[in-house]
Amino acid sequence: MPPSSKSPDSSVELLQTAQRAAARAYCPYSEFPVGAAVLAADGRVFDGCNVENASYGIAICAERVALFNAVAAGARKIERLAVSCPNASVDQPANSMPCGACRQVMAEFMSVDAEVVVDGVGIFRLGALLPDAFRLQRRH
Ligand code: THU
Repeated sequence: MPPSSKSPDSSVELLQTAQRAAARAYCPYSEFPVGAAVLAADGRVFDGCNVENASYGIAICAERVALFNAVAAGARKIERLAVSCPNASVDQPANSMPCGACRQVMAEFMSVDAEVVVDGVGIFRLGALLPDAFRLQRRH
């Protein structure tokens, strides 16, 4: 059985949304645009791009922008995330993989079985990308 039991079309569409979001990346320092899109459990789709800053360390990744857009709009359960890095080297799949900070934020709002669709690389379960994620008991 493939990693996804859901319609492959919805993964493709989410990836296309991520690809379009990458065109809006603000990345004048790295020149490495990234786009992301998330599918919420209520069916809504949110997207994001990386946003850099002259103070390099406060740049934010596309995946977190997409996830925070969803949460800010009231969506707390995310079923699937897609990410696209158009300038990634085809022979360097690690160029396209979500960073560790983004994986930890995914773990806050996505289940271990949720899908992470990585453009040009494949589809992963979140639990495979971040086994044993740090968690705390939620108080509300
Ligand atoms: N970046 C992302 O948007 N997502 C990741 O998962 C890794 C890196 C961005 C941050 C920065 O703007 C650029 O890619 C180069 O690191």
